[in-house]
Amino acid sequence: MPDIIIEINGLTKTYGSKTAVKSMDLHIRRGEIVGLIGKNGAGKSTLLKMIAGLIHPTSGELHFFNRASANGQSFFERMGVLIEQAGLYSHYSAFENLKLLAIAYGLPDANTQINKLLKTVGLEDIGSVKVKSFSLGMKQRLGIAAALLGSPDVLLLDEPINGLDPQGIVEIRALIQELNKNGLTILISSHILEELSKIATQYAIIHKGEMVEVISADELLHKCEERIELKLEKAEAAIPVLERELKIADYKVFDANTLYVYDPGAEIRQISKTLIEHGVGIDSIYKYKQSLEQYFLARTEQAGERHA
Ligand SMILES: Nc1ncnc2c1ncn2[C@@H]1O[C@H](COP(=O)(O)OP(=O)(O)OP(=O)(O)O)[C@@H](O)[C@H]1O
Ligand SMILES: [Mg+2]
Repeated sequence: MPDIIIEINGLTKTYGSKTAVKSMDLHIRRGEIVGLIGKNGAGKSTLLKMIAGLIHPTSGELHFFNRASANGQSFFERMGVLIEQAGLYSHYSAFENLKLLAIAYGLPDANTQINKLLKTVGLEDIGSVKVKSFSLGMKQRLGIAAALLGSPDVLLLDEPINGLDPQGIVEIRALIQELNKNGLTILISSHILEELSKIATQYAIIHKGEMVEVISADELLHKCEERIELKLEKAEAAIPVLERELKIADYKVFDANTLYVYDPGAEIRQISKTLIEHGVGIDSIYKYKQSLEQYFLARTEQAGERHA
């Protein structure tokens, strides 16, 4: 049995006539870093808030920790949440902020844990500096530390990278990977696929409230791999030439006139010369590489057309 830490079936949230999240399914296994990708208004925050127990779903099911049969509240305690802005007190230091939260959570002797968390997020040396003087990156790191109070199993992060400079992005990514290495399952949203490309193990692409695709990092990389695209008079006629003459095994017939070659050793000049020699008419041949962002846009456009 796979270890499913969050199970979402047909989850829906409507506000009046507006459907913010429409019948979404998503199963998250322990140890994954799931990137929730969607444009503004796609439904990322609404989905995360339902998972965090901050808002009630209109319909659908949410199960946690392999459908363990304890009451709902204890599940939410095992989740650390940073959604929208962390509720930080600007006139207090990082330590004081975490201390106030620890008291609110009923963790009165949390000093050791707080110091450890400050070290984890790289804020151990800032002493009594007040949050109002923090950079955005520092505030995000403190927000993550706050979400980690109480040692949760799952961390929900809503756009923690949004607005950070490149250095800040690198730091938050490194922190997320470190936390994941230590066993935390992480669900993190962003409107830019590329930003999560180096850390997510799985992607859930959402568009206008719908789950468009759930895809593993490996599958996504394969789809965005470099390929040679051939437009041919007849794609089928090229197959024996590719296989027998050029010894190319990694190819795909896309449609009657289009064929993709993935073989890393394949060369455009060699392919076109050999095809012509064997009487296969070529309309065009070129190297094609799709960026992650182009893939994301293509997927959401397709989804948009379906609903148009
Ligand atoms: N409390 C609410 N009342 C009415 N409509 C809402 C409410 N919360 C969200 N919505 C609508 O639901 C849709 C999804 O919103 P949501 O905030 O989940 O999107 P998002 O993907 O987080 O977007 P962003 O990238 O801007 O943060 C939007 O059209 C939004 O206007
Ligand atoms: Mg949002």
